[in-house]
Amino acid sequence: MTDRPNTPIEVHVSLTGRKDITNEIYRQLRAAILDGRLRSGDRLPPTRELAARLSVSRTTVMEAYDRLLSEGFTESHVGSGTRVSTDLLLTPAPPASPTGALRPREVWASIRVLRVHDQFVEFDFTAGIPDTRLFPFGTWRRLQGREWRRSAPGIRGYGEPAGVPMLREAIAAHIAVARGVRCRPDDVIVTNGTQQGLDIVARALLGPGDHVVVEDPGYGPPRRLFASLGFRVTGVRVDAEGLVVDEIPDDARLVFVAPSHQFPLGTSMSLRRRIALISWAEGHDAAILEDDYDTEFRFAGRPIEPLQLLDRTGRVIYVGTFSKTLLPTLRVGFVVVPQSIRQAVEAAKFHADSHTSVPIQRTLAAFIEDGSFARHVRRMRSVYRERHDRITTFLRSQLADELEVLPASAGVHVAALAKRHSVDGIAAVAERARERGVAIEELAEFAVGDNKRSGLLIGYGLIATEHIDEGLHRLKASFEAPLRRGEPGIC
Ligand SMILES: Cc1ncc(COP(=O)(O)O)c(C=O)c1O
Repeated sequence: MTDRPNTPIEVHVSLTGRKDITNEIYRQLRAAILDGRLRSGDRLPPTRELAARLSVSRTTVMEAYDRLLSEGFTESHVGSGTRVSTDLLLTPAPPASPTGALRPREVWASIRVLRVHDQFVEFDFTAGIPDTRLFPFGTWRRLQGREWRRSAPGIRGYGEPAGVPMLREAIAAHIAVARGVRCRPDDVIVTNGTQQGLDIVARALLGPGDHVVVEDPGYGPPRRLFASLGFRVTGVRVDAEGLVVDEIPDDARLVFVAPSHQFPLGTSMSLRRRIALISWAEGHDAAILEDDYDTEFRFAGRPIEPLQLLDRTGRVIYVGTFSKTLLPTLRVGFVVVPQSIRQAVEAAKFHADSHTSVPIQRTLAAFIEDGSFARHVRRMRSVYRERHDRITTFLRSQLADELEVLPASAGVHVAALAKRHSVDGIAAVAERARERGVAIEELAEFAVGDNKRSGLLIGYGLIATEHIDEGLHRLKASFEAPLRRGEPGIC
């Protein structure tokens, strides 16, 4: 009949705080059978014994046993009591993983959350983060306070998916003046930063399997976002004139570029290349996502015109952010979209998160309108110019044998190519710098393909101006030797 032991199994049943006791005994025994704790042929405790153990009447237990029997979970044999049915054919449950049974799609195996920058490093040259200490908190608090009253317009109900009209107007006016971008407030869709702008535009335009081109080297989160949406992503080389347009694959449907200030190299795309890119997109019926990155902080030379201005056929989507001019934690950016895709991008934004926080949008609109934004950008431009000049002067005089500073006249970092050290050699320099309390990123980390360039990114958003020289001296020492005993290191 069965080779299971004849002794009843001591199955655990707990009735603490339960009301429907029959049902609870039935439910717990059934669960023990289904999850394999009780196996085919196992003998259940005799009803009298279980009733005594649980301090309930025998009838209560018998009712639960009858139910298991009538549903086929158990069999009853005269002389051998109640056993788990032998024809249940339950496969043993796989061992439960401590983290849960669900598995993400394979693409997420190679996509991780990047650094969250909240650690204090004394000499922090991390790129891409503005100096938040100099943000005009008092002004913002005052303007935001006005939005946090019960009667404030931004508090009731939901807002418009494309954004608060007064902010869309303020953005349209700002980019028309600052960058010459031609747009009406209606063309502006407010987003939670650049990253969401790329997400909703990509969803509106492309589907799984579509081919997207990004710059190599380039900023990582967009290409990983595109991969997660099921697109094929190819990195195309950037040279001294910007993206090498001749190398864009014919079947690309979307090209993501930062022509004004390439990240991380800092290159401005030549006019010749910009025209070639627009012509390429026209000839291949493709779209261009233009990340007009870091252009507010320009110290020298004439700013190059955005691609959006060269676009005659409505294929350029212009993307901007307040992450660098104000605070990355605000999560406010915007896209300027050609009319033909406006409704779809707006619907994508609505279905992503309804809209960006209305009190924040209204505060930002007031901040731009009363001149605080322009004042802050002007102030930061002069702070960053000083830091930029200090860093480039040091690198060109004291580290000229090691690093070639790439020309860049905008932004909050400079890129420098290593003259003598390999990619691994520079990684060792960066590691030695970390031991000396200096945080610095390697250029190779931004490679899309195998073509890793050996060099460093020296950001100046986080480091106070007066700390720059000491930080660079420590960097210089890191080219020469590991941290020596007695030398100042991580504090
Ligand atoms: C090239 C580039 N574009 C845009 C951004 C800003 O992204 P977000 O607006 O999502 O903060 C960054 C941030 O580091 C960046 O490096």
